Amino acid sequence: MYLVSAKDMLVKAKAGRYAVGQFNINNLEWTKAILMTAEELKSPVILGVSEGAGKYMGGYNAVVGMVNGLLKDLKISVPVALHLDHGSFEGCYKCLDAGFSSIMFDGSHYPIDENVAKTTELVAAAHKMGVSIEAEVGSIGGEEDGVIGMGECADPEECKRVADLGVDFLAAGIGNIHGVYPPNWKGLSFETLDAIQKKTGILPLVLHGGTGIPADMIKKAIELGVSKINVNTECQISFTAATREYFEANKDKASKGFDPRKVLAPGFEAIKATVKEKMELFGSVGKAE
Ligand code: 13P
Repeated sequence: MYLVSAKDMLVKAKAGRYAVGQFNINNLEWTKAILMTAEELKSPVILGVSEGAGKYMGGYNAVVGMVNGLLKDLKISVPVALHLDHGSFEGCYKCLDAGFSSIMFDGSHYPIDENVAKTTELVAAAHKMGVSIEAEVGSIGGEEDGVIGMGECADPEECKRVADLGVDFLAAGIGNIHGVYPPNWKGLSFETLDAIQKKTGILPLVLHGGTGIPADMIKKAIELGVSKINVNTECQISFTAATREYFEANKDKASKGFDPRKVLAPGFEAIKATVKEKMELFGSVGKAE
């Protein structure tokens, strides 16, 4: 299977009232764990790459090479999209050039007219190459790889304006935050989500900050038109906890325990378990059959 645009899988998800997970990748272990889980569960999946993670992995070409190689060697048959997460204007062009199958232009920090102008240009560039494109209105709270948002709720009128530019799916702030939610978090604004969906119709909506959102809120968000849910921090937390356990149990001191393949194995399994739990919650299991 080759990389596919995320458009079709999300249109199907919206119609079928489930969501496809975007799981952010950091390295080979992450990518392999997510792809293998998607294949085992027959679920479509989106691999998210932030600009920081892309740089960390050596660059966008390295990422595309790694992902395409794994699709072939692991005989992945479910639909997989490789998606730039919170891309800058320049970053979007770099990913189109490198062979990503989906991009996100995060113009939410620009005044709305500039966001509209830049998004318009990128929609044309992406669609010319058969690549899907996500736009953002109303910033997501918290910090992810240096991208900081205040978490305000998007204006439904502005969402409609950006939706009408021909974007394939739209991220709209509804009180969601990247990273761990603070204890005084007020929860998602379903009122805002409902108003946005009424204005944007069949367009798939994206919920960022999937880590730590309670299951009932996730289900309600899907009912109200969310078809893509982004998860990053939760895999990082489960990977790190499992790796910590390995060292705390002194397993690195056992026979050949220093072998990186042994060191990274518990974290790898932990990512698989987290991805499985999310795919079950989002309802995407079996949807690639
Ligand atoms: P979390 O890190 O909170 O799961 O958010 C991920 C995300 O929204 C990526 O864009």
